[in-house]
Amino acid sequence: MEHQGNAKRSPTITVRDQMFDREQGLKRWYMAGDPVATSFLNALSAAFPIGEKLFIDSVRHFHDVAPRPLQAQIVAFVRQEAAHTREHAAFNAQLETGGYDPADLNANTSRDDKLIRRRSAIAQLGFTMALEHCTALLAHQFLADPRHLEAAPAEVQAMWRWHAVEEIEHKGVAFDTFMFVSQDWSRARRWTFRTAVMLDASWRLLKVVALNMNCLFAQDGLAGLGIWTRTLRYLMGPSGVVLAMMPGWLQWFTPNFHPWDEDDHQLCEAFA
Ligand SMILES: [Fe+2]
Ligand SMILES: [Fe+2]
Repeated sequence: MEHQGNAKRSPTITVRDQMFDREQGLKRWYMAGDPVATSFLNALSAAFPIGEKLFIDSVRHFHDVAPRPLQAQIVAFVRQEAAHTREHAAFNAQLETGGYDPADLNANTSRDDKLIRRRSAIAQLGFTMALEHCTALLAHQFLADPRHLEAAPAEVQAMWRWHAVEEIEHKGVAFDTFMFVSQDWSRARRWTFRTAVMLDASWRLLKVVALNMNCLFAQDGLAGLGIWTRTLRYLMGPSGVVLAMMPGWLQWFTPNFHPWDEDDHQLCEAFA
């Protein structure tokens, strides 16, 4: 039988509630003059305030029915995500000050947000559970491979590393909530559901990031095959972060998968 979700597998979730400089005076292409690397981080950051609010709501929905240890984890999860939302919103506002128009970026995320929020509570939880796996994989890469962030200004690096540490710490919470809520489901039904939500969520994440990057490129006056070839090479080339995430992404589809099968909490300790 598939395990039922075990809160004891998760390490302590520490709510750091950090704040970062609101007036950094960011250069337009702050990643060492690279519009691709800069737009990738900006595209992700633009999606977080709306996306993480959905994550919070979908997990918090099940708080009252969850067992006590899981309830405590849900509370910590909500507090961490709320701080991430606040800091990314502040960061995004700085991009606006730097000359970017956020309207189209918000519209890209809002469209999918509205659609997901029309689904059942467990489907919304499933969407969150899948994207929490993706964010944990991204977080792992951001901490494990310094190349992904080293071109960023120190305060930008600090914000992403703080976010990455907390994403790893709480990576099992939405999953364990799902395992608890679906405890009466058959093994086959759970696997089918997990597979479907991951395919749907991954496609939507890729789409929103690509649309956001497209908006930013357009505002930078960049268009055509050249910039997208660079983007593909940056994300899927030998040192690309998306390529590095692929083995972990595929792990999701194994029948007994649990986020803490990859115990990377020690990676956090160097940065926490
Ligand atoms: Fe987060
Ligand atoms: Fe998260």
